[in-house]
Amino acid sequence: MPENNKTTREINFHVTRFNPETDRTPYVKSYRIPVREGMTVLDGLHYIKENVDPTLAWRYSCRMGVCGSCGMLLNGRPTLACNTQILHIANTDLTVGPLPNFEIIRDLVPDLMTMFDKHRSIKPFIVRADEAEINTAEGEFYQSPEELEAYLQFAYCIKCGCCMAACPTLATDARYLGPMPLAAAERYDKDTRDEGRRDRNEFTGTSHGAFRCHYAGECSRACPKGVDPAKAIQYLKRQLVLDYLHLARRKKPCQKLHGPGQGKPLPNIPAAPAKTV
Ligand code: SF4
Ligand code: SF4
Ligand code: FES
Repeated sequence: MPENNKTTREINFHVTRFNPETDRTPYVKSYRIPVREGMTVLDGLHYIKENVDPTLAWRYSCRMGVCGSCGMLLNGRPTLACNTQILHIANTDLTVGPLPNFEIIRDLVPDLMTMFDKHRSIKPFIVRADEAEINTAEGEFYQSPEELEAYLQFAYCIKCGCCMAACPTLATDARYLGPMPLAAAERYDKDTRDEGRRDRNEFTGTSHGAFRCHYAGECSRACPKGVDPAKAIQYLKRQLVLDYLHLARRKKPCQKLHGPGQGKPLPNIPAAPAKTV
């Protein structure tokens, strides 16, 4: 709860409830709660659980828009409950539901496993052929600021699933990879240290991959972290066509530094402290 104790308004929370063990279909239950300035939707749910209905279930962890656990549908928009203030989106009434395009485990808890399975399929890690280097690293790989910039924004994804919930294509094709896994594929494809693009093309280039996207852009509008999955998917489409036509430029090999002090030093970055061990 915020420190400011002044109640500013009463808001009706209309919350989707569903227990698959006892309910045939989801239903809506309403709670009228006092709301103070600064209260987030997550605070409101805690108020309900502590003071009105202890059976309400949802998922959360960090309370600060980092863990990606508390994605839900607020007034019809997929977003994070912990970084949405109630009075910013509601005057009298607020609807709170689970993220669409996922099965419901209970109440506001979506089953995100379909998303994580798709994410795993595209190999969301740096793939390299030189296994000896992976097992016995000889040095660090150098990446320029420009090379980092090419994938950085896609690396900000917290796997909350809001983009998946917003995607109209996923609503009609459950096998569509969806914006989060496709943006992750682009993030690793663009990494100069990675050599796994051809492997990922096996998944991103299928009829349920990047070309299934209609570029409505809802995913990018929904993303609470400013990631632009729709843009990532258009990059993927271009690369898939170039790879298919054998027109893709060879990726410049990433420079390996065999010890400290090599490569071009970046300006304004203090030197690392001396080793203590
Ligand atoms: S741009 Fe593509 S991935 Fe994003 S919501 Fe639209 S169809 Fe889905
Ligand atoms: S791209 Fe954005 S909306 Fe989608 S899972 Fe990542 S952080 Fe969430
Ligand atoms: S509780 Fe972690 S993102 Fe909301």
